[in-house]
Amino acid sequence: MTTSPPNPTACPYPFKRPSALEQPAELRTIHKDPVVPVTLPSGDRALLITRYADMRAVLSDERVSRDLTRPGTARMTKDNVMFQDPVISPDPPEHTRMRRLITKAFTARRVEQLRPRAEKVVAELLDAMEAGPRPADLNEALAFPLTIRMTCELLGVPLEDQNRFRVWTDHFLSVSRFTGEEIGRARGELIAYVQQLVAAKRDEPGDDLISAMITAQDDDASGLTEYELVYWTMLLLIAGYETTAGQLGSSLVVMLSDPEALAQLRGRPELLPSAVEELLRLQVMGSSLSMLRYVKEDIEVSGVRIPAGSSIVPSIESANMDPEVFSAPETFDITRQDNRHVTFSTGLHYCAGAALARMELQVALGEVVRRFTGLRLAAPADELPKNEGALIQNFTEIPVHW
Ligand code: HEM
Repeated sequence: MTTSPPNPTACPYPFKRPSALEQPAELRTIHKDPVVPVTLPSGDRALLITRYADMRAVLSDERVSRDLTRPGTARMTKDNVMFQDPVISPDPPEHTRMRRLITKAFTARRVEQLRPRAEKVVAELLDAMEAGPRPADLNEALAFPLTIRMTCELLGVPLEDQNRFRVWTDHFLSVSRFTGEEIGRARGELIAYVQQLVAAKRDEPGDDLISAMITAQDDDASGLTEYELVYWTMLLLIAGYETTAGQLGSSLVVMLSDPEALAQLRGRPELLPSAVEELLRLQVMGSSLSMLRYVKEDIEVSGVRIPAGSSIVPSIESANMDPEVFSAPETFDITRQDNRHVTFSTGLHYCAGAALARMELQVALGEVVRRFTGLRLAAPADELPKNEGALIQNFTEIPVHW
């Protein structure tokens, strides 16, 4: 039998963590209800999809839209209109065609070609950290410069522009840190920059992703329009940089806070890929606010009817803690096998840069652990400042001694 979604008082979302590295208490019991009403930072209501299987089904369902411009759709935040931008949120069939072309340009080979480059950049950054003052900040010394450099290398963005990107993305990913006006200005500057960059690549193509996107063609010989090229370049810049930096930083904090896991990884370096996957599953930096979707036609989620016009949040963190799929989900286990976490989402909008992110995380974490055997946090994880009011709540400073 199908029931309507429950309507008790909605709990505030994102959920709070009791401490920096602990999962929100709600995630322990939430899976008993497949659909839970929540209040977003904007004050708008949405329905959280809690279970792994439902989340996967919903994210592959074409009745569920990522276009958040429809009237009546819940807003994530009051101030950041970026998240309601139609350009950021296309649906099929436009999205499917663009994804096909992007996938042609952003190949596994391209990512593997970047691996030696990532190894070199990590070695250089760690050399500089070693030679510099202590404590060092792992964000400034490693996580941010590595990911911005790799994103710039991938897209063919000149290195001297990297600082400007950092400022623009900080604004883009703000939930409440900046005013609507400030965010709008940053957005305008970024679009203007990217337009120029695409034009420059058209004149003088290089061995980079933007040039490959310019030449990628569909079966009917059509390619991406100017507008689409700018949009996807922006998306790759924004989506690829701070997410990976935040994940690397928080992975390092988790590892350095767990001497047993650290010793296990040092003793068995072959565990690096499964350690990276487990750190991704536990994802201590984010919520699923950006996963917000709009329901175009009635759907059913584990027997609960969700009417057309509802806003839903398929929750990554809840799916990753689903006891039906992960044994002892709260346990951090770097040997965990068959770790099918959904941190890179699933379905139509599955993260286009997952392979690149994995590669960077493996190279950087592996080298830090191998090289700095005495590395330790200069302050407990709970005392490290976090990027409150941002979509990606990474640690803003990670001071370390060695
Ligand atoms: C640890 C790092 C990363 C995490 C946790 C992450 C997570 C995600 C998630 C959850 C989505 C899906 C959003 C949705 O379904 O609504 C997504 C989409 C996307 N990601 Fe990532 N990502 C990471 C790194 C990257 C990198 C390195 C790039 C590229 C350089 C990238 C590019 C993209 C793009 C372009 C999309 C949009 C795909 C689409 O709409 O079809 N991401 N990412």
